[in-house]
Amino acid sequence: MSEPVAFLTAFAHALATMTLYAGGHPARELAIDAAYCELQDLQADTPRPLFTFLGDEIVYGRLPLRELKAWDWSRRLDQAGIQRLEFEDRVGREEFESFLDDVLARLTLSAIDTSEARQLRRSSIRYGTVAVRGDVDEQPLQTATITYSLGEEVDTVRWLQEEAKVRGVVSLTEAEAVVRSLTLAMHAGRHLVIPMLQLKEFDQYTTTHSLNVAVLAMALAEALGLSGPDVRSFGIAGLLHDIGKVRIPLEVLIKPGKFTDAERALMNRHPAEGARIILESEEQLDLPAVVAYEHHIMLNGGGDPTLTFRRDCHQASKLVHVCDVYDALGTTRPYREAWSQERALGYLEGRGGLEFDPELVATLVRMMRVWEPHIAVMHDEHAPVVPGA
Ligand SMILES: [Fe+2]
Ligand SMILES: [Fe+2]
Repeated sequence: MSEPVAFLTAFAHALATMTLYAGGHPARELAIDAAYCELQDLQADTPRPLFTFLGDEIVYGRLPLRELKAWDWSRRLDQAGIQRLEFEDRVGREEFESFLDDVLARLTLSAIDTSEARQLRRSSIRYGTVAVRGDVDEQPLQTATITYSLGEEVDTVRWLQEEAKVRGVVSLTEAEAVVRSLTLAMHAGRHLVIPMLQLKEFDQYTTTHSLNVAVLAMALAEALGLSGPDVRSFGIAGLLHDIGKVRIPLEVLIKPGKFTDAERALMNRHPAEGARIILESEEQLDLPAVVAYEHHIMLNGGGDPTLTFRRDCHQASKLVHVCDVYDALGTTRPYREAWSQERALGYLEGRGGLEFDPELVATLVRMMRVWEPHIAVMHDEHAPVVPGA
């Protein structure tokens, strides 16, 4: 058995034993000791081991761990919001035990899975030197490097848009595949990376924008402490939010200047058209349909479409709305230059409480400032350009 596999096996055994025996019981202590020993053995070769759990897939460093194919803990950890597990050098025995307690609390709460439990889970996790998924408070930050080009994802999104245009449907399987791949790109390194695409060629249906909004929506959902499956459904919603644009006449979509009233009215149909396409495609895509419909509705009820009966929008819609505007401001348009990160964040902050949910804006601002070194701007030459690198 390889060292990482031996550690994960002992780690799972310790968690299972801890659910059976209270603190101080010899069986519990033995199981924790055994897992701690395995960790020390592992760290003798690899001082900072890193595991990534994505559904059934386990990645150790950058390599998939195939020996643990039937290990059901990966999915459980992922669903509990633990997708990345990284140990710093010299973790103490006590610290290791309290980390196991935290993991167990997360697993238990995710099994109950009420919104109350999520709140609790969000506020009660403290890992210290054992870091689970780059905490936004984590310091010091290091420059991220990534090896993904996202070329295939761009092609898949273009294919999705073509299907929506020609056949009027979107495929859940393909959308899920793109989001899973983006998740992998974001979690491939030691820290979370936010890959932002900038394609040089003309992008009539906003392919890059859709991918960027998906990435931002997932990063923001993670920063809010949402579970892995929720993060990915927010990602799918972000990816498909503008799919209705395939039904807007091309001359309106690509018009460089200001819209006439008639053109504006046509453009404003894309949320409802998007929701229609998604609803006609797959029953399981109900959240993306809601988000497509609501992503231009402001917190104060303004925007489009106008709701006949005023109600609160879904959390995912408010989140995608913030990410949508942030990405749009950061992109060069025919009539204006791209805004700097600070200017775009300042704009969102100024409209928090009116147009945008202020709590979401505050989290995005904090996330973008702290994670700035982790933003990898990717061009279509397939070479990621990392600031500072
Ligand atoms: Fe839109
Ligand atoms: Fe958009």
